[in-house]
Amino acid sequence: MDLPGPVVAAVRGARRILVLTGAGMSAESGVPTFRDAQSGLWENFDPSQLATPDAWADDPPFVWAWYAWRLHLVRDVAPNAGHRALAELATHRDVTIVTQNVDDLHERAGSEVAAHLHGSLTELRCADCHEPYDGEPTLSPEPVKRLDPETCAACGGDVRPGVVWFGEMLPEAAVATTEAAIEALEPGDVCLVVGTSGIVFPAAGYPAMALAEGATVIEVNPVDTDITDMCHHAIRGTAANVLPALVSAVA
Ligand code: APR
Ligand code: ZN
Repeated sequence: MDLPGPVVAAVRGARRILVLTGAGMSAESGVPTFRDAQSGLWENFDPSQLATPDAWADDPPFVWAWYAWRLHLVRDVAPNAGHRALAELATHRDVTIVTQNVDDLHERAGSEVAAHLHGSLTELRCADCHEPYDGEPTLSPEPVKRLDPETCAACGGDVRPGVVWFGEMLPEAAVATTEAAIEALEPGDVCLVVGTSGIVFPAAGYPAMALAEGATVIEVNPVDTDITDMCHHAIRGTAANVLPALVSAVA
């Protein structure tokens, strides 16, 4: 894939690269995004019924069944060439990855992830005493209607997924790490925004913060998004196509 010269020059010359990824990063691994037409999770499931503390309080088995399916799916798929390209880029440049994704595909491709802004599907904890759950949960290969959550050994409470639901605060450490990484950006650095619709804050506000620090903001997405207009460059392509081309151009 041919990339615009200024994009290659910006990444080649960058002292530091901050990468912000969203669901599109994992799409080519077979993990559905949230808002893509037809395939998006929020096109087929109601987030108010599955991704809020009230939904969990109302009916833990209904909510857990959905996450037990998503966790089964994430364990079943593999990192794609885009994940692998970012891991390789980090061997040539100072790369910091912050992600909105709750899968562990960056890590399984060999990347270190500085922050999981929306938590992690693979981290389970007690909804009552917050004790981490390190047992082997019953998962489901299909999105079944109901599945009893695991039980906390410490207090008997229900075990929930370690993801951030709508209305919940983001993990303080993840936000602090991300904002520090952005504040450390200088003119000549690059902020690579891959596979996000740029709708959900605070993550959606991070490209503008990187811009304000003087970084060159480059979007990788097949389509225009809410943040396209603020980017210096918008590469219309997929993560698994664009990122390997970018890494081979700068390595
Ligand atoms: N490569 C790159 N981008 C892609 C690809 C791909 N192969 N396929 C789809 N995309 C793009 C879509 O065009 C879209 O802009 O990825 C983006 C996915 O957007 P969303 O589904 O809204 O996902 P995201 O931006 O990560 O959502 C943010 O919303 O529901 C919450 O917590 C959830 O973390 C999520 C947050
Ligand atoms: Zn407990």
